[in-house]
This record gives sequence, structure tokens and C-alpha cells, in this order.
Amino acid sequence: MEQKLQFPEGFWWGAASSGPQTEGWYGKRHENVMDYWYRNQRNDFFDGVGPDVASDFYHHYPEDFRLMKEIGLNSFRTSIQWSRLIKDLETGEPDPEGVEFYRNLIAEAKKNGIELVLNLHHFDLPAELLEKYGGWQSKHVVDLYEKFARTAFELFGDDVKYWTTFNEPMVIPEAGWLYGFHWPKLTGKGKEALQIMYNINLASAKAIQAYRDLEKDGEIGIILNLTPSYPRSQSEEDLKAAAFADDFFNNSFLDPAVKGKFPEHLVEVIEKDGVKWDETKEELETIANNTVDFLGVNYYHPKRVMAPSNPEKYPDWMPDKYYEEWEWPEARINPYRGWEIYPQAMYDIAKNVQDNYGNIKWFVSENGMGVEGEEKYRNADGSIDDDYRIEFYKEHLAQLHRAMEEGSNCFGYHPWTAMDCWSWNNAYKNRYGFIGIDLNDQKRTIKKSGRWFKAVSDENAVTIETEE
Ligand code: BG6
Repeated sequence: MEQKLQFPEGFWWGAASSGPQTEGWYGKRHENVMDYWYRNQRNDFFDGVGPDVASDFYHHYPEDFRLMKEIGLNSFRTSIQWSRLIKDLETGEPDPEGVEFYRNLIAEAKKNGIELVLNLHHFDLPAELLEKYGGWQSKHVVDLYEKFARTAFELFGDDVKYWTTFNEPMVIPEAGWLYGFHWPKLTGKGKEALQIMYNINLASAKAIQAYRDLEKDGEIGIILNLTPSYPRSQSEEDLKAAAFADDFFNNSFLDPAVKGKFPEHLVEVIEKDGVKWDETKEELETIANNTVDFLGVNYYHPKRVMAPSNPEKYPDWMPDKYYEEWEWPEARINPYRGWEIYPQAMYDIAKNVQDNYGNIKWFVSENGMGVEGEEKYRNADGSIDDDYRIEFYKEHLAQLHRAMEEGSNCFGYHPWTAMDCWSWNNAYKNRYGFIGIDLNDQKRTIKKSGRWFKAVSDENAVTIETEE
């Protein structure tokens, strides 16, 4: 049996991407931390491929927007690279070449009837700011980011109606200071990570304030990777561990962004442990007064959590004192990325936002499945039969639709990603796009999922198979 799931009128059928993963190095005056990492440690990246060329969006964007239109996208998220737009990082003075590029890109999206969401930070801090000031550990960097944001709003705020301050801000301390999988690849720096979490929340609020000061006719939000924590059991210890992991990894950004304050329990724990961030009353007021208009939620996989087996293992403060990851034996895993596939979490996230965050309007700002070796599904005409991806989207959309039927205020679905793009560490190993790219000649070919998405967007509905 088939069932057609209808979505509300005006629903966004789009895709997500980012500047540092698509544009390539061309014309940039500053390196971002990913460029710097690649220049120094090429072997960290799959097949030694870096962000220097990436998907050459810098030159291909007119063709890419045409293709996006062809697969039915009515909206698209990418990011402005701080390291491209700004010439003088201390004053926020723009670089004319960067301005021209983003101006043309915005015009091209408009020409193709694609609503743009512009994000201001996708892990791509200018490398000099890490070297000079310690990156997001520094409140001076917060002020420099505010200047960059203000410049971007002044330049493009009349043409772009949807802005976001950060993509997955939690990944910055998590990957760079706690578990060492992104540059600067530090581990065990719990106290520094907490300061970074606070500073980025402050930076986001300051950018929102700047946007509102300029009285632009648009909306501003933030994009968070909400990874629900499911406990191993209903025991008190496991439930406590899951609640802590949720507070630390999700609510530490979700609460300030939507409610204007940090989760109480997390604050109590870090105060008790003597690792609280440095804050002022005025900064807390800025956070309280500048909450988001809308929320973007990236969802790929859940977190499975249990009580920590050895909390004493961490003499220096680490969140792992309070929780430990657990492998659910029944998990369905995407073997190429090692991530669990669990569509039910899409429903759970939607209900959490509805029930506990004032049913704020939100959209799915990333969701997707990275697959290695897609060439084996290639047809004679160059297209790829990525049925697994279509299946993945259908399952997640069915859960989203279920939550929307129950009142969740979701206005769009942006899979990751439009065209295959470069990734931190994995480079082009796993492909996510609706549109494939041959790295030898940058030739673009629409995959089966792209044709499928066009039909979904045209009908504003998804047809799924049901058991009865
Ligand atoms: C998200 C990021 O976490 O996941 C993207 O916002 C990233 O930048 C995407 O590319 C997919 O993850 P990965 O590591 O497989 O590229």
C-alpha cells in the first residue's frame, strides 16, 4: 500500500551546504582553520584531498543554481566565509572581491527563484584568530565576529531574508577541545570547552542584536545539531546520564538560543565542580534579550547513553564524568559513516521543540546519508541510482510529517546536500549530494534522488510504502 503525505503550502524543499566545503580557495585573503589544518596535515584527509578546490562552487555557482532549480529546490542554505568576506579582521572592513562573489551568488539564487538562508559560521574561524587569540576562547574574537556579522547584514541584509549565526556551534568545542577530531585537535580540555560554549552563545546573541539594530526586514536564527540522548535503561543512573548529555550537548545552545538562559542543572554542575565559564551580568542580559526568530535543526543520528563506568578517570574536568556512550546492539548503522540510522528521533526532536521550546518555528536544516563508492550504482548516462538515499529521506520525512500532524511548527526540509561536497577528514569519501560531482573534471550529474526530490517538491508531498 502507498500513502501520500501532504505538506503545508509554502513548505521549503531545499538543501544545505557551506562555503568552506564547496567554494574552493580562489580569491580568499585569509585561511580558515580548515585550510590551515589541510596545509599542515594533509594526511588527515581522505586521499589527501583538501578544501582548496572543493566543489569549485566559486566558479560553478550559476550552473549549480540552475541544477538546484531543476531538482525542485525552492530554498538553499550556504554560508558566507568570514575569511573571504572580511579584509581587515580587526575592523570588519570588507574585501571587494569577496563582496562581489557573494553579491553575484545572491543574485543568481534569486534569478532561479531559490530562497537563500545565509549562515555566518560553519566551523570556519579565520586561522589567524586561533593563533593570536586562542579562537573562541577569547571574548575579543566574539567582538570581531560581531563586526563581521554586522558587515554582512549591512551589505546583503536587504537582499537576503533568512540568516543564521552559527552551524552546529557545539561541534567547535567538542571536536577541537574535547575529543580532538577537528583542528586544533586538542583533547581533555573541559574547562576551555565550557568557556567556548559560553562565548559562542554570546557571539550569537550579539550578532542577533546587531541584526535587529539595523532593522532589516528578515529573520535570524541558529542551526543546532540536536542529537537526542537515549538511555540504556530506565534506571536512575542511566536516566541521569542521558539528561546530563542532553543538557551538555544540546540544551547548552538550545536553551540560550530560544529561552535566553543556560540549563539550570548544567550551571549547577559546573559551579559545583569549579569550572564555570567567565561571565558578566551585562553579557547574560545580551543573551537573555536576543533570542532567535527560528531554529534550524541538523539531525543525522541519535546518542545512546549510560551511566559512566569510571567517573574518576577524569582528573581534569570532562563531561564524560557524567555520562558514557553506549552501543545499542540492535542499532541500524550506516557502515560508511558509522552513524546509527534512527528516524524516530526526528519525531522526538520535533515534539521536544513543540512541547518544551514554545513550539518555535523551525526547519530541518540538515539530514542525510553519506555513502562511499557510489560509482558502483552509476548508469550509462552518468547518473547514480541512490535508492538507499531516497529510502532514508522517506523514513525521516514520515516521522517529521507525523510530528507536524500533531502540531509541530516545522516549515522546511533541507537535506545535506545539493551537490557532493568536501568534508572535514572524510573529504570526498562519503557522498551526500542530490547531484554527483566527478572530481576529475567537476562535471555535475543529477542522481536518482535529485529526480525523486523534484517530484516531492512539485507535489508538496511524499509517497511512502506502508505495511497494510
Ligand atoms: C554536519 C555538518 O555535521 O554533517 C556538515 O554541518 C557535515 O558540515 C555533515 O559535512 C556531514 O558529516 P560528514 O562528517 O560526513 O561530512
